[in-house]
Amino acid sequence: MGIGQREDILHAYQRVRGRSLEIAAPLSSEDCCAQSMPDASPIKWHLAHTTWFFETFILEAHEAGFVPFHPAFRVLFNSYYNGIGAKHPRAQRGLLTRPSLDEVRAYRLDVDRRVAHLLASGAAPGIAALVELGLQHEQQHQELMLTDLKHLLAQNPLYPAYTVQPMEEGEPAAPLGWIDFDGGLAEIGYGGNGFCFDNELPRHRTYLDPFRLASRLVTNGEYRTFIEAGGYRDPSLWLAEGWDRVCAGEITQPLYWIEEDDGWHEFTLHGVQPLDPARPVTHVSMYEADAYARWCGARLPTEAEWEFAARQALLGGGALHPEAANGDGLLQMFGACWQWTASSYAPYPGYAPAAGAIGEYNGKFMVNQYVLRGSSCATPDGHARASYRNFFPAGARWQFTGIRLAR
Ligand SMILES: [Fe+2]
Repeated sequence: MGIGQREDILHAYQRVRGRSLEIAAPLSSEDCCAQSMPDASPIKWHLAHTTWFFETFILEAHEAGFVPFHPAFRVLFNSYYNGIGAKHPRAQRGLLTRPSLDEVRAYRLDVDRRVAHLLASGAAPGIAALVELGLQHEQQHQELMLTDLKHLLAQNPLYPAYTVQPMEEGEPAAPLGWIDFDGGLAEIGYGGNGFCFDNELPRHRTYLDPFRLASRLVTNGEYRTFIEAGGYRDPSLWLAEGWDRVCAGEITQPLYWIEEDDGWHEFTLHGVQPLDPARPVTHVSMYEADAYARWCGARLPTEAEWEFAARQALLGGGALHPEAANGDGLLQMFGACWQWTASSYAPYPGYAPAAGAIGEYNGKFMVNQYVLRGSSCATPDGHARASYRNFFPAGARWQFTGIRLAR
């Protein structure tokens, strides 16, 4: 379901915008300013950039007598839209000690008031679809706020927790089964009447040979066995780029695993926890997912296989760490970890990005990345769907990425 389908667009706007501030609420202004790596942005930057999106693509284009909140913000908070103009360098977002967090909050309030006025006035009847895109964009950033913050907190030897809430009690994982799919001629891509991103279109036919998918994600316990069996020391398991990173010491275990005298632990948004063997392994690269699959005589699914299977899966999520698989059938397709596929991120046949700068949203990233399917524990409710295509370079590990096997 898209954001606006069952809900007035103004209510959706207030709800989604409010959620970003809730995510930031437990954080200090120091927490919100720092940047741990070029791929991860400061919380303050996310709060400002999501506001910039509405200011630039809606107010600037549709508000009568538009005056920017601050003329410098057009460059400071432009992420990657070359059609808009100059951008502050991505790797230097953490150096922006000014504007202050309070000023960014004031920026949000000002833009929110003006977008609400524009929506209520009916002066720009075509803007609902753009507002919806802005809200979907903000939800993508809400997930990044949590994963970027996790990466930042993990650089601190104190391993501070984001939340004081204890992690849910661990449960045993459902046994791993295999689910058979006949395949055949399949329709892939978004086919509904609600919102989707342009990269999910056009819906098109593709042929699938019969395949099997694992009923759940690979667990920490299973992945630990792979490590103990020498998985990171056997070059025959690895794609060349992945093996180079293993040899360089960049990839030795999942990103947030910590080996102590008393066994493995894992840094989470709840702080450091003993590694729970039943929860899905997460924060692995595509190289690690592929090597693990090869080690157990399986492979990663293609994105078409994944989507074909996911039409019967349930949505889920809403936690700060993925939970163990529980139940029967095809489990953890949504709401636990994004699942690496064997598919390169490429345009569907007949794909056409939107005209203008907004067309830069997805299309120009269709190079050197792999598709991930599903959603994670950090994905906002209502954001994911079976046709959703997430994408990252094969080495990216700071998202909640996990492994589903196929045969
Ligand atoms: Fe963005």
